[in-house]
Amino acid sequence: MNIIWNKTSGQFHLYNDRISYIIAVAPSGEMTNLYFGKRIHDREDFSYVVFRMGMPNIAVDADTETYSMELNRQEYPSFGTTDFGTSAFEIESENGSRVSSFVYKSHNIFSGKRVISGLPATYAAENEAMTLELEMEDEQTQMTLLLSYTIFEGYPVVARHAEFKNNGSAKVKIIKALSCCVDLPDQDYEMVQFNGAWARERMPVVRRLTGGTTSIESKRGVSSANFNPFFIIKRPNTDDFAGDAYGFSFVYSGNFIAMAEANSYERLRILMGINPERFTWVLNGGETFETPEVVIAHTDQGLNDLSQTYHSLYNNNLVRGKWKNKPRPILNNNWEATFMDFTEESILKIAAKAKEAGVELFVLDDGWFGERNDDFAGLGDWVENPGKLPQGMAGLARKVNALGLQFGFWIEPEMVNPNSNLFRRHPDWVLAVPGRKSSLGRHQLVLDFSREEVVDYIYNMLYKVIDGANISYIKWDMNRSLTEVFSLGCPPEEQGMVYHRYVLGVYSLYTRLIEAFPDILFESCSSGGNRFDAGMLYYAPQAWCSDNTDAIDRLRIQYGTSYGYPIVSIGSHVSAVPNQQTGRSTSISTRANVAYFGTFGYELDLNEIDDKEFEKVKEQIEFMKKHRELIQFGDFFRLRSPFETDQTAWMVVSKDKKKAIVGFYCMRSNVNTLPGFLKLTGLDPDARYRMEDKEYYGDELMNMGITLLEFYKKGFTISEDYASFVTVIDAI
Ligand code: DGJ
Repeated sequence: MNIIWNKTSGQFHLYNDRISYIIAVAPSGEMTNLYFGKRIHDREDFSYVVFRMGMPNIAVDADTETYSMELNRQEYPSFGTTDFGTSAFEIESENGSRVSSFVYKSHNIFSGKRVISGLPATYAAENEAMTLELEMEDEQTQMTLLLSYTIFEGYPVVARHAEFKNNGSAKVKIIKALSCCVDLPDQDYEMVQFNGAWARERMPVVRRLTGGTTSIESKRGVSSANFNPFFIIKRPNTDDFAGDAYGFSFVYSGNFIAMAEANSYERLRILMGINPERFTWVLNGGETFETPEVVIAHTDQGLNDLSQTYHSLYNNNLVRGKWKNKPRPILNNNWEATFMDFTEESILKIAAKAKEAGVELFVLDDGWFGERNDDFAGLGDWVENPGKLPQGMAGLARKVNALGLQFGFWIEPEMVNPNSNLFRRHPDWVLAVPGRKSSLGRHQLVLDFSREEVVDYIYNMLYKVIDGANISYIKWDMNRSLTEVFSLGCPPEEQGMVYHRYVLGVYSLYTRLIEAFPDILFESCSSGGNRFDAGMLYYAPQAWCSDNTDAIDRLRIQYGTSYGYPIVSIGSHVSAVPNQQTGRSTSISTRANVAYFGTFGYELDLNEIDDKEFEKVKEQIEFMKKHRELIQFGDFFRLRSPFETDQTAWMVVSKDKKKAIVGFYCMRSNVNTLPGFLKLTGLDPDARYRMEDKEYYGDELMNMGITLLEFYKKGFTISEDYASFVTVIDAI
């Protein structure tokens, strides 16, 4: 890895073994991109790729009239001079002008990476990454723009963000401040985005890019289940196993926009950042605004490789603390077993049975506090309900610990029910427009986390509950989108800052709780997977993937999620049948075979299943304990897409290629067809492996494939709906 500054040509070449990223100072003084892709040799001067030609458009250099921004690739374009594409930022001066021109002033190259204050971001030790900071200046507004680029040693990745500083005394307004722009020199690409909604999150959808803009966004205050803030730009023939692609992952949990714009001159512009809708940041003299980070990756080896890049980078350089790279405890959560209708006694009964099965952690979900017996009351009152927990959280934790289990519980700190003591005391602490009706979501309002005193209050309440008890885990939920976003804590001209300040408030509460209780494992949740993003992973290393726990639906949800997020971050549990969301019944084996590929746990009362199934559960837990390190941290490969066929398959391979685990699932039976073959991948072609009771070379398994008939003797058949198998492959 290195960053070369070529003074004569004014060019920067960031490279490692896999990628090159080349930037130059343009004739206009702004920064232009010359190349981003597979690693190429360095040379003094790459300016032969700059288009200088007298086309019928407007030139930015008055001398020769041959250089137009529109024909060239920009690093962080503004609108208002000769680039007619979508801008990366917009600043309004006191006189109302929105034209800016940031020109190169200086740069700084250093080992490692700086933190972005108050925001989540990847981190790196000095030997893991190098950073280039370009300092640009707009004389008229007396503002500085810092563009930051970090290249990592072991990953085909560049992490980018921008920073604005107002050096003058006049106030300016930032109307738009995206995190990155990547201009590519041709448009033969498709966009893979991850669409969804509650209970059907992160379904990959491919869109062909043609003239104009193709975009996804969230305006819900959370990153959302509707459009995930991760997307891929790929060549049409790129698939999981081969081909060129770029990934864009936003390390942020609020409103976002991601866009690909094809202009009339073969340029494809990709932009990502905070959604400018309802965003205005007032920057007084001396103040700084930092955008969140976008992690951009490139592969020439297909989408499995792209996903593995994000998996490893996020496991090693985003997730922090005690749970970084640690296999996760197998848990039993009571939500689908009891909802809010429980007593300490009924909870302990579920926990005791879980212990007998081999579970390690018991989680008490919603309903333990205030008057919380249904959705209508109690949120905001973070004090134990004595009817349900007579000796408080500490008492229950002691009793669960005495069974030999760790203990954790559920919170939803950002919310309040109108029917709560908190709301009665502080009706002004919610996001609401004075005099207007507030929309409810699940009968609750959103607390104004843009205000420090609100975050403080919630922190102190939660601190008391956690501090007195032996707590190993917390599930942090968030169950509605933001509406009527207005804060009584802000003057009128700062209302455009509230969405972002809200997210900063969420991050600050996470930071304070993590600092106070560094050993607690946090799992984020937002009606399932409504806030499954890289920003959250910085605080909570795992996320409840979806409220849809049906094994067959989960195949698609987990398959889609695996494109951008590590397997160890995917909260996945076995629940009861018929499934509460879909009514579908699948075997206990298939439910576990799907849930293994994630954090793994149970979302049911194990007292309710029969002895035969209970014996199976014990075996499943033993299996997961034995293999979770490999499943959660091995190289994960998608093998057969559940979006294309009635069968799906995936596998994990250990880093040393000595062990692999394959999962195969029949989503819909096919009558009178041959079972066929499944080609594996990622193994050592020359190594010999044992699978079931036979031996094979790696190249056999990868090229001829495994015959699915082999598994018929174990009861698996593709003429049975929802049949599945998981098999372990060991090098001999
Ligand atoms: C939504 C979550 O996704 C569920 O798992 C559960 O925790 C409920 N909220 C509790 O209200």
